[in-house]
Amino acid sequence: MTPGKPNVTRAILLFCCAAALCAFASAADFRDGWRFRREGGEWQTVSIPHDDAIRHDFDLKKYDTGCGALPCFGKAEYEKTFSVSSDEWRSLASGVESWRLEFDGVMAGATVEVNGKAACSRPWGYASFAVPLDGFAREGENVVRVNVDAKGRSSRWYTGFGIYRDARLVKRPADHVVPGSVAIWTENVTAEAANVRATWEMSKGGKREKSFVVEKPRLWSPETPHLYMVELGGEKFRYGIRTLRFDKDEGFFLNGKHRQMRGVCLHHDLGVFGAEFEPEAARRQLALLKEMGCDAIRTSHNFPAPGLLDLCDEMGFMVMDEAFDEWSTPKVRNGMAKLWDEWHEREIADFVRRDRNHPCVMMWSAGNELPEDGKSALAALCAATGRELTALFHANDPEGRPVTAGHWEPRTIDNGIAEATDVFGANYLPRRYAEFKGRQMIVGTETCSVVSSRGVYAFPIDNKRAVANQVPSWDLCPMHPNDYSPDVEFAAQDANPHVFGEFVWTGFDYLGEPDPWRGSARSSYFGIFDLCGFPKDRYWLYKAKWRPDEPTAHILPHWNWKEGMNIPVHVYTSGDEAALFVNGVSQGRKRKGRGEYRIVWNDVPFAPGEVSVKTWRNGVQWAEDRRVTSGAFHHLEWKDESWGEKYVFRTVRAVDKSGVFVPDAAVEVDLPPPDGCKVFGTCNGDAAELRSLRSPKVKTFSGMALVVYRR
Ligand code: GAL
Repeated sequence: MTPGKPNVTRAILLFCCAAALCAFASAADFRDGWRFRREGGEWQTVSIPHDDAIRHDFDLKKYDTGCGALPCFGKAEYEKTFSVSSDEWRSLASGVESWRLEFDGVMAGATVEVNGKAACSRPWGYASFAVPLDGFAREGENVVRVNVDAKGRSSRWYTGFGIYRDARLVKRPADHVVPGSVAIWTENVTAEAANVRATWEMSKGGKREKSFVVEKPRLWSPETPHLYMVELGGEKFRYGIRTLRFDKDEGFFLNGKHRQMRGVCLHHDLGVFGAEFEPEAARRQLALLKEMGCDAIRTSHNFPAPGLLDLCDEMGFMVMDEAFDEWSTPKVRNGMAKLWDEWHEREIADFVRRDRNHPCVMMWSAGNELPEDGKSALAALCAATGRELTALFHANDPEGRPVTAGHWEPRTIDNGIAEATDVFGANYLPRRYAEFKGRQMIVGTETCSVVSSRGVYAFPIDNKRAVANQVPSWDLCPMHPNDYSPDVEFAAQDANPHVFGEFVWTGFDYLGEPDPWRGSARSSYFGIFDLCGFPKDRYWLYKAKWRPDEPTAHILPHWNWKEGMNIPVHVYTSGDEAALFVNGVSQGRKRKGRGEYRIVWNDVPFAPGEVSVKTWRNGVQWAEDRRVTSGAFHHLEWKDESWGEKYVFRTVRAVDKSGVFVPDAAVEVDLPPPDGCKVFGTCNGDAAELRSLRSPKVKTFSGMALVVYRR
């Protein structure tokens, strides 16, 4: 299509608001008043988003621990009635209006019936889909039934179970913008003006296009997430203005400035919320990441909830929007590979059309560590699929954002697979970055995979299995082929500015994949934050690197040891020099060496009291930290935070009688709820804890616990 003549300047600057609907269309939530039952079970009344699996106790024997030791499989039905008044019926029957039910995702194997007639089916649990009501609805009472048929072994992580994302009833005028048809992108962006292009389809009137100029555009970036609205065909749509440049020699440029993405991979569960997508819980996660200096998210390894992308637009996160964990060759018995032939084209097209107008989306990822990667006989198939998918992404994205796929097998660098996508996605291959300069664009799709348990330490520090079901938190030694320290990745990123950045595995612990304690735990150890959202030590390692101008100093470990012990003390700081003191006595002043990201004192004689650090940057005092030996547990302290109107997140800490944090306290939490609130869920960050995350009871782990209340 040739660019139209710039003619309209009807762009409305938006700073922060709800998503992209609408002038003449109306959307009503469809959340409450559902009945739900599992096969053979009793009917219950539920509201959606609803993840039934998270409501169960963890069971390491009955359920796959890789999927979170919860029942993410089985058959179930949901039912909801809604009424259509005579006036509404007249509009619908005469074609004055068109109605549809939109589901952001049903896990999994959904078939939807309206008034007993099959209306839609969607086997893939991460897909957003819509059910037409025209021709199905009737005057008076109507019944929608959603049948779920989730096969076990469909994933390598926790999927959740049920209508786990939002749903709404949308009413549009007869001649309306065809959902998914809108594409908005920008061209020729300068400080003076941006040319905005839009194409869409009207249900009765075919294809439309529009170009207009926004003068003195306010550009979208993680630091300045400016958003605009435009009206097309009677509905309002949100977009952003920014320029992207990806270069195999020079790296990635956003709005003309070179940067490397400081990203994390996220699975979709939200701790106590399970797979239920609650914007308040996601907003909290993103705010925690932002504070650390993270500016990018990889939606590993599936389509995210649309609401996550809305938040990334508003809060300023660049997104690698990822589709699949497998293509036609299976990793698990009932994954995407089973649906591949019939569904992959449709899934990619719907996914790209759903997400392409989000300014936060920087690039697409077609897949992750395909099993074909490692088998020479399948290399040609893998490369062919990579090319096919890349073409599908491009065909649906007029902005032409690049496509990548994560590869773990070094052989993919030389067997033709790398070139099948635009960008080589390097999973755990920092030592290979240099050879891509000038050869092909490259990004660290997955990095580090460090495992640790918050607040747990053991000696010697290379003994990762020293504490049953936990992993000591030194962030250093390899446990797993993917586990290398953040320091190694930092050095590789710094030395290779042509790499578009890194995506750490993972931002938060998630349900499932409890390596290295697969048999005895239920959630992962990979997070920079634990499952509660409490930072582990390496939060400060990343913060020091990613926010170099923020004074950061953090000491590990805690200072509750036995006299006579020699303790390794590590300091994560954005300073370049540090002095350590035990009860005021200097243990020496040290500088960070070139390519070093932590300062270490190996054998510090323990004496009860205080270990403290002073740091300097360029010779000027910079940041301090200290750890104090605590007495016995005395009471709990807590702090309440809200990220919206529905939930209160309470961080609970165990302290001694002087208020000093007790780092190993394991005590039951029984606190008065905030006014008008009930306990919604609890968590303590212990990956081997078997109490349900929806239990009102929780014990502190390493001195802390989270209680989430519902207003
Ligand atoms: C990667 C994989 C991730 C996760 C990670 C754990 O190879 O892509 O999904 O399993 O390993 O280290």
